[in-house]
Formats: sequence, structure tokens, C-alpha cells
Amino acid sequence: MPLHRKHLIDVADFSRDEVELVLDTAEAMRTVLERPIRRAPTLRGKSIVNMFFEPSTRTRISFELAGKSLSADVVNVAASGSSVEKGESLVDTFHTIQALGADLVVMRHACAGAPDLAARHLACSVVNAGDGLRGHPSQALLDLFTVRQHAGDLEGLKLVIVGDVLHSRVARSDIWGFARMGAHVYLSGPPTLLPAGFGDLLDGDGVVRVEHDLDRAIDGADVVMALRIQKERMAGGLLPDLREYARRWGITAARLRRADRRALVMHPGPMNQGLEISPDAAYGPQSVITEQVTNGVAVRMAILYLLLAGAPT
Ligand code: CP
Repeated sequence: MPLHRKHLIDVADFSRDEVELVLDTAEAMRTVLERPIRRAPTLRGKSIVNMFFEPSTRTRISFELAGKSLSADVVNVAASGSSVEKGESLVDTFHTIQALGADLVVMRHACAGAPDLAARHLACSVVNAGDGLRGHPSQALLDLFTVRQHAGDLEGLKLVIVGDVLHSRVARSDIWGFARMGAHVYLSGPPTLLPAGFGDLLDGDGVVRVEHDLDRAIDGADVVMALRIQKERMAGGLLPDLREYARRWGITAARLRRADRRALVMHPGPMNQGLEISPDAAYGPQSVITEQVTNGVAVRMAILYLLLAGAPT
């Protein structure tokens, strides 16, 4: 089944079948990555431009590796060092990239909606690699992939997302993705970092519950996901002091004993160790944080393949 989409901007409107198509395709991509020569000719002759106007390690590198593993030509552009620094507008930058012959643009930007603007001005496909506080769809898909590998089925799982939901585009995309697949999503953290309105967000597709008391939220959880405290996006006054935050909402090995004994520990990275997660939880036997990073390549290969090669002619 092809993915009947030109762009990947958000997972909020993805159907269950579309999520499963991406995850199944990522399984096939993993077999490419297990070969002695980790390369398939699928996207030979295609050009991918990674436009990262905000910092990134995991997403940028894994999109680059994903494109190269499928034999595409991959070019990286950052705001720093590009003509954006000389005042070139975003729209003129899109026109320039189109004129240079891109087949797909991967874009990270501080403004929510920047990838939608790109999709309007570019003739090629656009993938959102994180826009403002709105979404990070490829992260949600790799998180779903990682949990499915361990749990087999996402239906009925209890996922607890802990911490700075307010500033987290990962949380927004994960809430949509996991709820769409039938998981029960709980949010926990200080009231100042949990935006109101998530109960309405899912509109009959699933249930998002808010439980400020982390010990109660984590009770019987199948997946516990800590979020980075995004100090750089906080104007101030949103947190109790950091030690108090770690005591009440930090994920530790001791606290995990309340979760299911097979519970998975996740974090999208980068981590503030000792704040939202302790080293004994981040590197303990239940942690799949490294697997999340590794799976990012296969999932992003699947995304590139489905948008560029798997599209109906
Ligand atoms: N998870 C994530 O988006 O990490 P990077 O910012 O390193 O890409």
C-alpha cells in the first residue's frame, strides 16, 4: 500500500493504517541496515536537502544517514552560514532550493507552521523535523516503532509522559500517535508545564488524562517517557526550583518500581540527567533510549522511501 501523501508535516491526521505502513516499512529498512554494506539503491538520483534552522544532533544525523543509506544525495543547510544570515527570506530560500533541484526538503524551524509554508512554496516533498512547539512527527513514529518492537501491540498500553509538555513538540506528536494506535496516554508534571485542553485534543480517538502526582500516574505503566526541561524556551517562573522538580517529577529506578515490571523507559533526548531522569533510569535495564536513537535511521528511511519512491505514479 502506498502512502498517499506528498509531505510529512504532522501525525495528527495520520490514520492507524498509515502509521502501520510507516512502521512496517521501517522494519524492512532495518534489514538494509543489518547488511555488511548498509546501502540500497532505492533513491539513487534523488536529492535531499536538510534545512536545520534550530540545533539538532539525532534528527539531522539520522535523516542524513537515512538518505545516504538509500543512495540519495544529501545536502545540509543551517541558518548560520547560509544567505539567511544576510537577510534572505524563508520564501526566497525555498525558491533557491527548488531552483537547485531538491526532491525533498527536511526542515527544522523555531516557528510552528514553517514546514507548511515550505510545502506551499516548494514543488518537492517536505518533511517536518520539528517546528516550534507544534510537532515532531518523525520522532513520534520512531517512538511508536520502538515500543511496538518490545510490546508487539500498542493497543491498550499505558503511556505516561512526564515533564515539560508545554514546550514539547515531541509530546504533542506522541500524544496523537500513541492515542491513534489505541494507547492510554497520561500526562504528569507541574501544572505550569501541562497545557490545558489535551482532553479535547483527541476528540473521541482516545483518552488523555492528567495526573500531577507522578507516583500515581506511573502506577502500572507500560511506558514511561521523560521529557527534557526546555530551559531555553522558558521565560521564567514556570518551575519550582530544580531540586524540587527532580524530587517530584524526576524518573528514577526507585520510582519505576511502581510501573509494570517490563515497563520501558524513554526520552527523546537530549537529556538533563539528574533533573528529569536519573542515570540509573536512563541507563538501567528498562531503558530503550539508545534504541530510540538507532531506530531513528530506519524510521526516517521509511519516511523518505514512502514519500519519494513509494508514491503512486
Ligand atoms: N529528539 C530530537 O529531536 O533530538 P535532536 O534535537 O538532537 O534532533
